[in-house]
Amino acid sequence: MKLKYLGHSAFYIEAEGLKALIDPFLDGNPLAASKASDFTDVNFIFVTHGHGDHVGNAVEIAKRCGAAIICPTELAPFLAAQSVKTEGMQIGASFDFAFGKVKLTPALHGSTYVVNGKAEYAGLACGFLICAGGKKIYHAGDTALTMDMLLLAEEDIDAALLPIGGYYTMDAKDAARAAKFVDAGVAIPMHYDTFPVIRRNPEDFVRLCSENDVCAKILAAGGEIVL
Ligand code: NI
Ligand code: MN
Repeated sequence: MKLKYLGHSAFYIEAEGLKALIDPFLDGNPLAASKASDFTDVNFIFVTHGHGDHVGNAVEIAKRCGAAIICPTELAPFLAAQSVKTEGMQIGASFDFAFGKVKLTPALHGSTYVVNGKAEYAGLACGFLICAGGKKIYHAGDTALTMDMLLLAEEDIDAALLPIGGYYTMDAKDAARAAKFVDAGVAIPMHYDTFPVIRRNPEDFVRLCSENDVCAKILAAGGEIVL
């Protein structure tokens, strides 16, 4: 599996049968490594919750590519109303797609979706466990540290993508505790620097992880790893 960081919480994943984006906040993000128009053949888009910095350009890209958007159940109708295919799943539930299994994990966070300038309640926020090409990644979405993350240690996760920016999510200290809980092959920081309130040095996360005996790696926007 190839995993490319696009900035904020956005990633591109490529594996057998899968070309996917996660939380593709691209054109509205000056720090993003790609433009929405760069993506012409993705087949799935994962969206953790309804906030603009996660839905981002999902609808436009899904329409252009004919991709299905996998997201929490209550968010799905807002996106489906814009003529895109959705897979509205529930927290704790899993499904075997052609490329592999997807499970929605709990995320302790809110979710709204703006319709005609008004923020509508959009149900629960989630994280994702995504299996593809024989590998498994955990994208935590926006979340606080939770005890539930301890259960993920049994999942044999290859890479955990964790928010570290504070203010809206875990900070580096809690994210390092999360990384210890999840016990993935590598922990990768996300959701920092994009806005003034989440400007952080990701090296702090790496240092705190190493104190917890957890391997962490910073991906610059545009950087990629092969799992
Ligand atoms: Ni959010
Ligand atoms: Mn966010």
